[in-house]
Amino acid sequence: MTPAILVHGGVGPHPSEARRRQGMARATEAGYALLAAGKPALDAVEMAVAILEDDPTFNAGCGSVLTEAGTVETDAALMEGHTLRAGAVGSVTGIQNPIRLARALLEDGRHVFLVGSGAETFAKSRGLTQIDPASLVTAAQKKDWLDHRGTVGAVACDAFGHLAAATSTGGLRGKHPGRIGDSPVIGAGTYADRRVAVSCTGDGESIMRTVLAHRVAVSYGIHLDPLQAAADAVDFFGLEVPGIAGLIVIDLCGRMGFASSPGTTMLSGRGDATGIHVGY
Ligand code: GLY
Repeated sequence: MTPAILVHGGVGPHPSEARRRQGMARATEAGYALLAAGKPALDAVEMAVAILEDDPTFNAGCGSVLTEAGTVETDAALMEGHTLRAGAVGSVTGIQNPIRLARALLEDGRHVFLVGSGAETFAKSRGLTQIDPASLVTAAQKKDWLDHRGTVGAVACDAFGHLAAATSTGGLRGKHPGRIGDSPVIGAGTYADRRVAVSCTGDGESIMRTVLAHRVAVSYGIHLDPLQAAADAVDFFGLEVPGIAGLIVIDLCGRMGFASSPGTTMLSGRGDATGIHVGY
């Protein structure tokens, strides 16, 4: 099996275009390097997303948008397809890499979804890097130029044909404190099984109501075509609910698909045997 990874940086335009392309290339390269070294898809998607969380030009981790209270609350999840193991965290503050916290939860295996202070206590018990929540309120956020729908995510197929998906976000700019979006909700913003792995971006309330990532898996079961499954899901979304959505998908053969609502763009990075490609 030839391994492959597909990474996204959210829907919507952004003034820091050149920097975001560089960040996307770095994340895709790092994820693909793990796959090429024979590591599991789960490691690759975690690494790619953690790199984007550390990049302030993406709405995740240190680049997260602010709530209406001027705080940062992040959501993240990852899922492994062939085991259906998942870890998800919501509304966490003061965690450098929420995706690593989600991974620790997945490995722990007792629970799938932890939120708020309970998730932070778990992070502490696992020795994960905690930071002063105020340090996440960066100068970039104060400039208010991040698109409010940005999210980052990755899907990968490893050398064993195993799949994984990961998604991380600061959520919607100006959201109510305590609001959790689609990204950590398994089946809505993040999903993987033996045949496909999916990560979504866009308006979380509408993505949850359409259970969008799982919808892609269902459509794939009919068409066996990741591009068709992505397009079907985004078409359904556009017909049924307000807002915008974008998603990436990979199947067990390493075939990729992506789609986003009409009039939107989604920065993505692809890593496979042909090299690393960043674009829209
Ligand atoms: N899609 C990210 C969010 O709505 O939180």
